[in-house]
Amino acid sequence: VTEETGVVECTFAIIKPDAMRKGFAAQIKHRILADGFHILQERQLQLSTDIAQEFYAEHLGKPFFEKLTNFMSSGPVTAMVLSRVNAIKAWRSLMGPTNPVAAAEQFPNSLRALYGDKENTTMNATHGSDARLSAQREIKFFFPKRPIFPAPTHQQSHEY
Ligand code: PPS
Repeated sequence: VTEETGVVECTFAIIKPDAMRKGFAAQIKHRILADGFHILQERQLQLSTDIAQEFYAEHLGKPFFEKLTNFMSSGPVTAMVLSRVNAIKAWRSLMGPTNPVAAAEQFPNSLRALYGDKENTTMNATHGSDARLSAQREIKFFFPKRPIFPAPTHQQSHEY
């Protein structure tokens, strides 16, 4: 593996309630695919404020915590697992800076520049994991795995 090729990773993405409400989901997914990502899993759901607070627990106590979690539970979102070479960095870069105003100035073709709200910057269209560990946690949070087969019992006979 060279620095140019990198490794195939998974990251976690959300299309936030503002972008869903404005009908941008299809365009955002189109950009995701055009950028070489595979959408491995996808579900549409609405978060309760409790679940939003649990998801954003690392930001508890920050001045924007309540605004962010109220907004994130204000309507349906699309949650996705994305995979690609260097997916975590690539998805952060496709999204652009957190603040849509800064995104528009610095990266006018980024998703937050195009689809984020320049008046209310809480509404920044998309979320993306910031590291491998948070990607793992966030994927498990939204796509918990259930075992396909029951656990074996000890009484099973091996004579067929
Ligand atoms: S931090 O403090 O550096 O970790 O913050 P940051 O990584 O920039 O952002 C973390 C998430 O909080 C959201 N955010 C805000 N929401 C509302 N108001 C303000 N002022 C604000 N600042 C940051 C930001 O969009 C991030 O949400 P996600 O869903 O992770 O993109």
